[in-house]
Amino acid sequence: MENDILRALRERRSIRRFKPEQIKDEELQAVLEAGTWAPTAKGLQDPWIIAVQRPDLVERIDRLNGEIWGHPHPFYGAPTIILVFGSDPAVWPNSFQDGSLVLGNMMLAAHAVGLGSCWINREYEMFRTPEGKELMQELGLETEGLAGIGALAVGYPASFPPSVKARKDNYFRIIK
Ligand SMILES: Cc1cc2nc3c(=O)[nH]c(=O)nc-3n(C[C@H](O)[C@H](O)[C@H](O)COP(=O)(O)O)c2cc1C
Repeated sequence: MENDILRALRERRSIRRFKPEQIKDEELQAVLEAGTWAPTAKGLQDPWIIAVQRPDLVERIDRLNGEIWGHPHPFYGAPTIILVFGSDPAVWPNSFQDGSLVLGNMMLAAHAVGLGSCWINREYEMFRTPEGKELMQELGLETEGLAGIGALAVGYPASFPPSVKARKDNYFRIIK
């Protein structure tokens, strides 16, 4: 079978080089809205999505994440960072599952509107540090009871990966 959605699922790639110009508001809106349509456990819509475009905050998030990873620019110079938070997983055990689906929807939507995106890890660790908590406050979030789930670097792609890994053998099976 073939259709636009199946093609997009196949063709989306993680983008790690971005043009410096900011994305359009309507493109960001489309990506964020797609995130809100992800399924969530019990339909609780537990995740919170924060898009950051203010250059000083983008720079701080990039630096803080990089300090944990030991990479100078883990967000690859993307002009937009989208953070996903959820309830503390000790309290709501579906936090990571819910947030991951939100991130997945947004990556696909980004691709569908011609943007590049890449999931960037380490938000859980980042937003447990004192500087991370300070940042959460500045983003208008509660500092207790919320955990960082993941983030996306988003922007116009400056290059595409030259090749795609084949899918592993026996990735799925059908038992009838
Ligand atoms: C949970 C998760 C964490 C990831 N963390 C990072 C990351 O920190 N930095 C990065 O460059 N890519 C990260 N990625 C992107 C993967 O490396 C990428 O999805 C994988 O290599 C497959 O490539 P594709 O997305 O182009 O199909 C992450 C992806 C997932 C699902």
